[in-house]
Amino acid sequence: MTRQVWTFSSPLEDPRFAWLDKLAEPLQQAAHDAFAGDAGKTVKNWLNGVPIRHRVHPALIIWPLGAWTTAALLDLLDGVSPGGNSNGYRKGADAAVAFGIIGALPTAAAGVADWVDTYAHERRVGMAHALLNVAALGLYGASFGLRLAGQRGMARALAGLGFGGIMMSGVLGGELVYNLGVNVPHQTTPEPPDEFVDVLAGADLPEGKPVVVDVEKAPILLLRRGEEIFAVENWCQHAGGPLSEGEIEGDEVVCPWHGSRFCLADGRPLNGPASAPLRTFEVREQGGRIALRPSYEGRAHPSVSEQSESVAAGG
Ligand code: FES
Repeated sequence: MTRQVWTFSSPLEDPRFAWLDKLAEPLQQAAHDAFAGDAGKTVKNWLNGVPIRHRVHPALIIWPLGAWTTAALLDLLDGVSPGGNSNGYRKGADAAVAFGIIGALPTAAAGVADWVDTYAHERRVGMAHALLNVAALGLYGASFGLRLAGQRGMARALAGLGFGGIMMSGVLGGELVYNLGVNVPHQTTPEPPDEFVDVLAGADLPEGKPVVVDVEKAPILLLRRGEEIFAVENWCQHAGGPLSEGEIEGDEVVCPWHGSRFCLADGRPLNGPASAPLRTFEVREQGGRIALRPSYEGRAHPSVSEQSESVAAGG
């Protein structure tokens, strides 16, 4: 008896899908070029969700998916209704298909802005996700043209295929987020203790030179700027890049991996692809020693004790 052996944790890891990498390389370079320059960076920041500190792509997905799901229902009702269009299903389905096509464009732009900073297997899965979306968009475009031409049956069939395509694409989108953790902050734990913890002698923190200390295994970047000492977690919120190895420019740090820029004073992202803030820490310097404790401002998650207090207060 032969036993099935699964070699790959994801089917797309199979070398037969290496063609996706070959396709992704020039496309990703083209996207990088499109987002170069000040205007390009500003557009990319918005598409990444930097100003609102939340990803834009997952929110925009609702637009085409909602419209096309509506179209699928109306097409179905149209197909099973005696007397054809007596209930106006066709007009509604046509409008929903068109509305979904319009919504797919900004959704795709936000997806590209997120995908441009991926690499290796994530990039391959993202490429497959994008191809399925483009195929679905093409099917819906053709379906809309056939609707205008009055070829209702074929139009419904193509829309049905498109709907299947976006559902398959959704599986890959889930793979990217849930299994591969793309754009998911990896280092939100461990939580440092809430009280001040002694970490360093003040003399060991020279002006303008970052120093990393560990507080309960949480790496924290310290930077002295004159009278002030900044303290933020040392993991980039985009994909965990070590911030202490990046450039320090004034009160800002630039991640060495994909160039996210953070304000050291409050942890907020100033340039993507990161859209979530860094956790920040209150600093106390007394008697030649530096001590830290988490500050609420900029913290990615409330601590367990804060959550308990909130629940106890009915909040
Ligand atoms: S890890 Fe990607 S920008 Fe920092």
